[in-house]
Amino acid sequence: MSAPVVIGPATLYNADALAVLPQLAGLDALLTDPPYSSGGQFRSDRVLDTRKKYVQSDSSSQQLPDFSGDNRDQRAFVYWASLWSAAALRACRPGAVGMFFTDWRQLPASTDYMQSGGWVWRGIVPWCKPDARPQLGRFTAQCEYVIWGTAGTMPLDLTAETIPGFYECTAPRDRVHITQKPLALMRELLRVVRPGSIVLDPFMGSGTTGVAALQTGRGFVGIELDPAHFDNACERINEAHRQGALFDHADTAQEQARLSPE
Ligand SMILES: C[S@@+](CC[C@H](N)C(=O)[O-])C[C@H]1O[C@@H](n2cnc3c(N)ncnc32)[C@H](O)[C@@H]1O
Repeated sequence: MSAPVVIGPATLYNADALAVLPQLAGLDALLTDPPYSSGGQFRSDRVLDTRKKYVQSDSSSQQLPDFSGDNRDQRAFVYWASLWSAAALRACRPGAVGMFFTDWRQLPASTDYMQSGGWVWRGIVPWCKPDARPQLGRFTAQCEYVIWGTAGTMPLDLTAETIPGFYECTAPRDRVHITQKPLALMRELLRVVRPGSIVLDPFMGSGTTGVAALQTGRGFVGIELDPAHFDNACERINEAHRQGALFDHADTAQEQARLSPE
């Protein structure tokens, strides 16, 4: 494995998460958007290129690169996710908060794998996309979900702020990764983690979690397998480091009221 790239308070590994996680310890939080291995009812649907599964056929995002690890069958998905979820737990300190993105199809499997990895499941935060494509005669599948939990107990902090349990915002339009998450949403989710903490994302893609961490005065450890996505993450996180922290606690409280599209 090559040496990590260090950019200010961020340490970035271009490697397999399962190879790096056992080397890490004492991290304060996990915020990750892993491969969902979703996108259809049958195995033949899941093995499709991620651009076919997750991007509308008329979207310019069809030109973006495919990404790894999204074509496991259900048994392999749950087994693999249990392994990395357990390794991520061991990389975090007791009491750390873990947040895992998933979609409606993989919601039951995801709450299972996080718990079999050892996390204490504490809830589900829906992310609603108001511009999702409506479906004739069916409910529009317009939410993804952040399941969250902790590494063991979570003592009540009477000095902490209150944090919403639901967010509504569109996915970024100018994205470099097919499943790139909105920066404003990631900054909001990090409110559950104290500024100065170090946040882990073992599947960082284009590095959105890392950008949000640096913009809000937190440190970051990120892992990404695909070299092209890793290079994008380095570039975005480098730019965030150059700009410095842009949001403090008060700013993010105001931002919550206006999760605007990017
Ligand atoms: C859903 S995407 C994350 C997108 C990210 N949230 C963003 O905003 O750009 C998941 C990423 O995990 C990466 N990945 C898949 N298997 C991996 C593994 N074993 N180790 C590390 N990264 C992996 C994929 O290449 C993909 O970029």
